[in-house]
Amino acid sequence: MEYAIQIEKLSKKFDDFTAVSSIDLNIEKGEIFGLLGPNGAGKTTIIKMLATLLQPTSGFAAVWHHNILKDPAAVRRSIGIVFQDPSLDTELTGRENLDFHARMYGLNKEERERRINEVLDLVELKDRADVFVKFYSGGMQRRLEIARGLMHYPQVLFLDEPTLGLDAQTRRRVWEYIKRLNKADSLGHWVCRSFFFCF
Ligand SMILES: Nc1ncnc2c1ncn2[C@@H]1O[C@H](COP(=O)(O)OP(=O)(O)O)[C@@H](O)[C@H]1O
Ligand SMILES: [Mg+2]
Repeated sequence: MEYAIQIEKLSKKFDDFTAVSSIDLNIEKGEIFGLLGPNGAGKTTIIKMLATLLQPTSGFAAVWHHNILKDPAAVRRSIGIVFQDPSLDTELTGRENLDFHARMYGLNKEERERRINEVLDLVELKDRADVFVKFYSGGMQRRLEIARGLMHYPQVLFLDEPTLGLDAQTRRRVWEYIKRLNKADSLGHWVCRSFFFCF
């Protein structure tokens, strides 16, 4: 199997309301996949099912070969996620936000320090690492969330409307980061293999 994400007849109903109706989709490894649709189309619901935060009503999906229903823990280890709504602790610094996340994933002190510096470098926030997030611009906050999503070396990164509310210039820069992160060679080390974003 070559697919980063496999989806077959995946559906989600909220009571009588069908939010996602039997979708089929295969996404290859290394692919940057964009899911487009108007508000309410079901994009966030799809991402939440793939990230094992929401149970599908029917159908099948596998993320990095792990069945989302049978092996949710393995799915979670394989993915990073940048949520639609901002989810940083603004009363902490950038570095502290990353450290908190890394602790949740069980990285030891040495790994945490190394990885935090690595991801801060990736999103060019190293010189702002010890500033409170409440003083970050919208674009900086988004970049920090991307960095956080990459902390535990995920194979697949989900981004739910990563450029929502950003101005055109910042939006372009976020896209540049995502494209760069996908090209491991240009950075000299492996970063993340597949991207699934929606907007
Ligand atoms: N927890 C929920 N309970 C009931 N309806 C929901 C719930 N979550 C989402 N919906 C509905 O499902 C539809 C798809 O929502 P969503 O996946 O958030 O769309 P998108 O992300 O494409 O804007 C919307 O009509 C939304 O109101
Ligand atoms: Mg949404």
